[in-house]
Amino acid sequence: MKNKIDELLNEVNNLAAKNLDELENLRIKYLSKKGEISNLFNDFRNVANEEKREVGQLLNELKNAAQDKINELKNSFDSSSADQQKTDLSLTADPIKLGTRHPLSLVKNEIIDIFARIGFGIAEGPEIEDDWHVFGALNFPPEHPARDMQDTFFIEQNPDVLLRTHTSSVQSRVMANQKPPIRLLFPGRVYRNEAISYRAHCFFHQVEGLYIDKNVSFADLKQALMYFAKEMFGAETDIRLRPSYFPFTEPSAEMDISCNICGGKGCPFCKHTGWVEILGCGMVDPNVLENCGIDSKVYSGFAFGMGVERITNLKFQVKDLRLFSENDVRFLEQFESAY
Ligand code: PHE
Repeated sequence: MKNKIDELLNEVNNLAAKNLDELENLRIKYLSKKGEISNLFNDFRNVANEEKREVGQLLNELKNAAQDKINELKNSFDSSSADQQKTDLSLTADPIKLGTRHPLSLVKNEIIDIFARIGFGIAEGPEIEDDWHVFGALNFPPEHPARDMQDTFFIEQNPDVLLRTHTSSVQSRVMANQKPPIRLLFPGRVYRNEAISYRAHCFFHQVEGLYIDKNVSFADLKQALMYFAKEMFGAETDIRLRPSYFPFTEPSAEMDISCNICGGKGCPFCKHTGWVEILGCGMVDPNVLENCGIDSKVYSGFAFGMGVERITNLKFQVKDLRLFSENDVRFLEQFESAY
């Protein structure tokens, strides 16, 4: 009996199977009810009493060894067949697709970079505003028709809560809280109650600039804007300032640049004038300085505000404004490589 156990133990330890079918046959051969090991257990009653203890132990060891060996072989089939399904080393690697920055962010960042080079920092303010910061402090008297220049979204229950129509609202917040010299840009989203079409949207983006110090003049404004236009659109770009009106600047102007699409010769984009308007600007009205607690006899300053969509259109000739907010990746991913 002991010899037989030794013999089987030796066999069991050297078991090998090429596939699961072969393995199953081995299991049947050794471990099934009529298998070799079970047969030994059946013969156990014939073992002499004084040997029972020792032989019983050996038999159990043999059974465990057979079970372990079969399990081990089974596991090796499981993991190698799973590996075969998962890993095909001849496949090309999955491409990792990188996102791209939104064209409006790219252009906004370029505007910020250009003005950073002449010392402008950044400040931000809330998009949900009150009448004072959007209109009152900026010298729009109540009921003044200039308020109609910008169709405003109000909250029905509370006419003092509104969506800012321009980033000039950040001017009034900054001037009330900071002492000159102030040299800041205010980038952000603004809202106007306009029908959505290819050339108008109910929200868009502006970058506002504000510079307050002693002895700031209109010549400083013009110089800063000329520098900006040439950095943004190329050294050959010309600017012109046309007199205009904003309640918060005096004098006020609108700035055109020579059309960068036709080089000033005239094309449909500039309506054959050779010029395109890009921003509003002016010297900060002394009333605004006083409204915000700045002494207008000591300080003066200039402000300007531009639409980011407009600048982006000039750079990339996007004909339909709505594309900027439709999140079509095929449109959005074209721009980063141009920078
Ligand atoms: N806030 C004005 C607008 O939205 C632009 C502007 C800003 C004009 C600063 C003058 C000075 O149209």
